[in-house]
Amino acid sequence: MSEKEEEISYSEAIQKASASITRFPLIPVRGVPLMSCIAQNWDPIWAFRPDPSDLLIATYPKAGTTWTQEIVDLLIHNGDAEVCKRAPTPVRSPFLEIHSPPPIPSGLDLLKTMDPPRVIKTHLPFQLVPPGFWENKCKAIYVARNAKDNLVSYYHFDCMNKTQPEPGPWDGYIHKFMRGELSWGSWYDHVKGYWVEREKRNILYVFYEDMKENPRREVERIMRYLDMSVSDEVISKIVELTSFKNMKENPMANYSCVPAPVFDHSISLFMRKGEVGDWKNHFTPEQSKMFDEDYEKQMKDVNIPFRTLI
Ligand code: PPS
Repeated sequence: MSEKEEEISYSEAIQKASASITRFPLIPVRGVPLMSCIAQNWDPIWAFRPDPSDLLIATYPKAGTTWTQEIVDLLIHNGDAEVCKRAPTPVRSPFLEIHSPPPIPSGLDLLKTMDPPRVIKTHLPFQLVPPGFWENKCKAIYVARNAKDNLVSYYHFDCMNKTQPEPGPWDGYIHKFMRGELSWGSWYDHVKGYWVEREKRNILYVFYEDMKENPRREVERIMRYLDMSVSDEVISKIVELTSFKNMKENPMANYSCVPAPVFDHSISLFMRKGEVGDWKNHFTPEQSKMFDEDYEKQMKDVNIPFRTLI
């Protein structure tokens, strides 16, 4: 089956599964709340054995995963835009732990159909990444985004993604985020977990804000980390093709392949704003103060240079 055919069946599979789509409750896996459809299928995820040539792109949800997946796919294909439109993001670069009602293929189902090297997405915190990745010395890119913008993006996503728990009112959502009660758990533990392991595991730690500030510099960093070398002209092309505007208009990168009943794009677009500092439009001054005070406590043991404005 070609990837183009898979793409059609991927969207169709979601339509076919519509009766089974629900806002899945969260079940803890070793203390980390995961959607029940993932938690109930945990054993094969943990047992997954990647090839040493596979690349892991790890993020807390809404930190810049899709952007990085697109950059990497373009680097691998020397900036060939048409090749990178062969299928939507989740088919080109499967989501390791995702498990949805049949006939939607799980991440593991898709991975089985692909030959290495594969580009694999995960939102799992470091301690839940299948140990095969580290045993096989796979490369891994971790993308981190400042907590406030990450939280705002996640809130809008939880409104439109009908498989995630109901976000509830904004003020309560802030507290759920601070307590680590959202899917994939605590943002604080997530960003710290990969930060402390980055040198030992040869993880490239990238910040969303740096990508916004100077995308060319960050694309080059990723290229060097992957031991690749593409021309300056191709780098320029990749920067252009992965601008927010271009990705928003690219049906193979903007998640329009995921129809309602899973993503209700009429509530919020997947490619929503793509900015640094949008939190200012959501947090009241009181909420911001309360959040910052708690942040100081939760992050006191590390010094990760996050920026909430650029
Ligand atoms: S997911 O569902 O976890 O995989 O989502 P993820 O891709 O990590 O994050 C989605 C947010 O990233 C923004 N985005 C971009 N910003 C800038 N440039 C580009 N090219 C880009 N592509 C995606 C997307 O708009 C989401 O952020 P918000 O703030 O909600 O707009």
